[in-house]
Amino acid sequence: MKVKRGIILAGGTAARLKPITSLISKHLLPIYNKPMIYYPLSTLMLGGIREYLIITNPSYLKLYQDLLGYGDNLGINIRYKVQKKPEGLPQAFIIGEKFINNEPVCLNLGDHIFFGNDVNRLLKKNINDFKKTTIFAYRYKKPNEYGVINLDKKNRPISILEKPFKPKSNLVVCGLYIYDKNVVELSKSLKFSKRGELEISDLNNLYLKNNTLNVEIIDKKNHWIDAGSPEKIFEASKLIESIEKRKKSYIGFPEIAALKKRYITINDFTKLIRNYEGNHYGRILNTFLSKNFIN
Ligand code: G1P
Repeated sequence: MKVKRGIILAGGTAARLKPITSLISKHLLPIYNKPMIYYPLSTLMLGGIREYLIITNPSYLKLYQDLLGYGDNLGINIRYKVQKKPEGLPQAFIIGEKFINNEPVCLNLGDHIFFGNDVNRLLKKNINDFKKTTIFAYRYKKPNEYGVINLDKKNRPISILEKPFKPKSNLVVCGLYIYDKNVVELSKSLKFSKRGELEISDLNNLYLKNNTLNVEIIDKKNHWIDAGSPEKIFEASKLIESIEKRKKSYIGFPEIAALKKRYITINDFTKLIRNYEGNHYGRILNTFLSKNFIN
């Protein structure tokens, strides 16, 4: 079965980033040369998702609508919903119940940046041929900041602990998930944790207990950045700049993802470039087009 829909969660108040986020949504801050949300959007577009629900908080809704519209110029469809209070990631599935429509769904957090062949391959595989709920994990040096996967002697996942004091492994759960259709009902059954949130680790543990959880480990050759702090935003910006310049790779361009996946034609793409005539972003789109599609 193919997964058709994806949710990008861009809610919260980003208190950690104030005063930068006193007036603007975290997921619109620049990561090198584009707004942060372009990265998760492009990741899912390259994975094959064409229907989106962006969830944000009420004061920022219009900004996202102005930036991305309904997605038609990218050959995708974008809808919007608000999350009034940041009460945990699984709330996205309760808010998105209608959108999910009793089918499997992807979730990508709006501040998670992935780059690498592995990510793309694993995502495509699980989207095109969805079998069971899949979470993506990465070996990370400070696991206690994330959901941590405990493994048994045969390296099979046995439990997921949310920000454990003494992590038993360095395998952390990234903000990219694909759930089966039961996710809405299971999310509704969760209880609020001590920090007043529905916890995605509780949700994942339900799947784990039922033996319906698949863990895909993203190889260290790939990049994963959770751009939730000033340091990480800076690190991500530097990394993207260096990869784009050095390797001439294109990371996080929804227009390029749309053309690569043939969601739009070369003609549509050329029209999109006109929005950025003569500027840095437009030049990159132009270079991509001339190198890959026009000889
Ligand atoms: C949340 C989840 C955690 C996961 C992380 C990925 O953490 O609770 O399990 O590893 O996202 O970024 P939080 O955003 O609450 O720090």
